[in-house]
Amino acid sequence: MNFDVKDLALSTKGIERIKWAANEMPVINQITTRFAKEKPLKGQRITACLHVTSETANLVIALKAGGAEVNLTASNPLSTQDDIAAALVSEYKIPTFAIKGESNETYYEHINAVLDSKPTITMDDGADLVATLHSERTDVIKHVIAGTEETTTGVIRLISLAKAGNLRYPIIAVNDADTKHFFDNRYGTGQSTIDGITRATNMLWAGKTVVISGYGWCGRGVAQRAKGLGSHTIITEVNPIRALEAVMDGHQVMPMNDAASLGDIFITVTGGKNAIDINHISKMKDGAVLSNSGHFNVEIDIESLEKVSKSKKQVREFVHQYTLKDGRKIHLLGEGRLINLAAAEGHPSAVMDMSFANQALSAEYISTHAQSLNNDVISVPREIDNTVGLLKLNAMDVNIDHLTEEQETYLSSWNVGT
Ligand code: ADE
Repeated sequence: MNFDVKDLALSTKGIERIKWAANEMPVINQITTRFAKEKPLKGQRITACLHVTSETANLVIALKAGGAEVNLTASNPLSTQDDIAAALVSEYKIPTFAIKGESNETYYEHINAVLDSKPTITMDDGADLVATLHSERTDVIKHVIAGTEETTTGVIRLISLAKAGNLRYPIIAVNDADTKHFFDNRYGTGQSTIDGITRATNMLWAGKTVVISGYGWCGRGVAQRAKGLGSHTIITEVNPIRALEAVMDGHQVMPMNDAASLGDIFITVTGGKNAIDINHISKMKDGAVLSNSGHFNVEIDIESLEKVSKSKKQVREFVHQYTLKDGRKIHLLGEGRLINLAAAEGHPSAVMDMSFANQALSAEYISTHAQSLNNDVISVPREIDNTVGLLKLNAMDVNIDHLTEEQETYLSSWNVGT
């Protein structure tokens, strides 16, 4: 079996952490049990490019139980949990290619290595796997029947590929399932971003001014949690409706140009580029902390920060201190990579349970429906989304009401009014 991980001796710790995560993943556990009996993925070769975490381990274990041949590569150079990668190789016999802190070159070597297995299904987080397939590895595309994509940024990239008429196989946008983005993006990113920044800096949130750039589902979650910890929250947005929502949710809203001089901690979650540029940085307080929780490390203009700085040193794990020419110090966390996975463990297992249940059930759907799908970015079928919601509620011992016949008739009629 081919693999590339940091150290197989880490696997004992990894096995325990995978089991620990499983305690909070009842939906994935149920799917694994059913998959082991029914083998709905028999004959499929699944290549997953995901953050290599204890939650991802439980997903790939489910896929393997379902009869698929599975291999795994990292979807970010800094998000890998090395003990999990080791456990996946030595205990679960899943070829894994991921080392925390790997160079960009190794990152792409790993993507190429998993593609050598000629996948029939791709499972991506951020679309680097699909982008590689559509550029350097077109030789492999003929084997692929369909794929899935986990995250907002990946879905945006795929839509642009599809719009240009260049998407070569159908891809299910897992991110767009309600049971994904309502929970993972909001509560997952909300909690894990605060967790990452706290672990990296050990700073107190109460009384701090926290500037959050972007008020999508992730930004909403981060802002809500920062506020809950006693921070004064400022939102920067380009979308007027989201800005309005932020105002009515009780946050202050202003352009980054104005927020720059006020913030103690800055968090970008825009999915875009240079939300914090060098003009903003030039206005910041001495000691300001910059972090990113968006998918790519382009939301803060790090290149310009490097250029205008007199010196740079690492002052804690995941904290680089840049000294500007006037002596002010600016702190960049996790090299501008997603801080929740760089400095903490990513989203808690209980939310990844739902995201990855959508992944597993979408893979099952693909294996029977791929021929009827167009080469486009498509929605997770509503039944899958509802099933995940119901399974999660059941696992949490929460019952809900059901419509009576009379209520159903009322809701489907037009003629009952005043
Ligand atoms: N994305 C965010 N958090 C994650 C986690 N814990 N595992 C895999 N992917 C993630």
